[in-house]
Amino acid sequence: MLRDVIDLLADPSDGTPLHGVDDFDRLESESGHSFVVDEAGYVTLAAGTGLSHQGDGPAMVAARETYLSLGHFAPFVETVTGAVQDIFEQAPESTPPALLEVGAGTGYYLAHTLDSVEGARGVGLDISPHAAKHLAACHSRAGAVVADVWERLPLRDRCIDAISVVFAPANPAEFQRVLAPHGQVVVLTPGVGHLDELREPLGILGVAEDKVERMYQQAAGFLEQAADPVDISFPIVLDRAAIAAQVGMSPSARHIGAEDLAERMAALPETITVTARARLDRLRPV
Ligand SMILES: C[S@@+](CC[C@H](N)C(=O)[O-])C[C@H]1O[C@@H](n2cnc3c(N)ncnc32)[C@H](O)[C@@H]1O
Repeated sequence: MLRDVIDLLADPSDGTPLHGVDDFDRLESESGHSFVVDEAGYVTLAAGTGLSHQGDGPAMVAARETYLSLGHFAPFVETVTGAVQDIFEQAPESTPPALLEVGAGTGYYLAHTLDSVEGARGVGLDISPHAAKHLAACHSRAGAVVADVWERLPLRDRCIDAISVVFAPANPAEFQRVLAPHGQVVVLTPGVGHLDELREPLGILGVAEDKVERMYQQAAGFLEQAADPVDISFPIVLDRAAIAAQVGMSPSARHIGAEDLAERMAALPETITVTARARLDRLRPV
């Protein structure tokens, strides 16, 4: 809930602390700006003219929820949680550890980590209000915020112990600002060849070979490598329903027409074994 993370949140326009008003029906900053808490439990924290886009739409969010609930990405979630636990162990014990997940989607990763670390709390940030509804319900110690990761983050300086970024955009300059000195960012990036077995038959988008390299270039001057990267790769057997959910949650959903996709899906075998590939990187403030 937002009250679990209120000591971390800040006004998106001027960075002044936020506090709950009217039993957390709204949040108000020291400079007098007010932000209504949606009845679903999330708050939109955007400055000025608001957000530039809406992120994942309702169909993509529903497909993500369906796919992740099947458990096929369990090795990914275990690896992310393990890295965050390790970072939390290096945090001073004075306050409960704080996690920020950006582009947090339905909160699958955030909830798993909060479940695994007693007392930890987390901010799930996503630009999609549809995702935020799930985020607000994903864990009792998660606070859901709709915000743009490319803008000034609605968080106080140096208050976050760990940031997780799972297949989502990053903002290294802002990560440097909000991380505590011992804090780190955990980034899970899809690996080259991730789910390649689906790529050709369905015509879905591939992973750029220089994705990780570009992430480090973008981070230069703000964040630096904190640990050796970990490559994760494992087979998954997907049936047609799981494949449909996987395609539906990916950017490919926007590029392939529904009829074309249905035709290509019908030509697939009942089940198909695919290889999931990703790389986990850990970065710390420079
Ligand atoms: C590929 S999904 C990953 C979701 C989640 N991390 C997971 O793996 O289940 C990317 C997420 O980033 C969000 N997103 C895209 N652009 C964003 C932005 N500028 N600021 C915040 N979130 C953004 C989308 O709405 C979507 O939920």
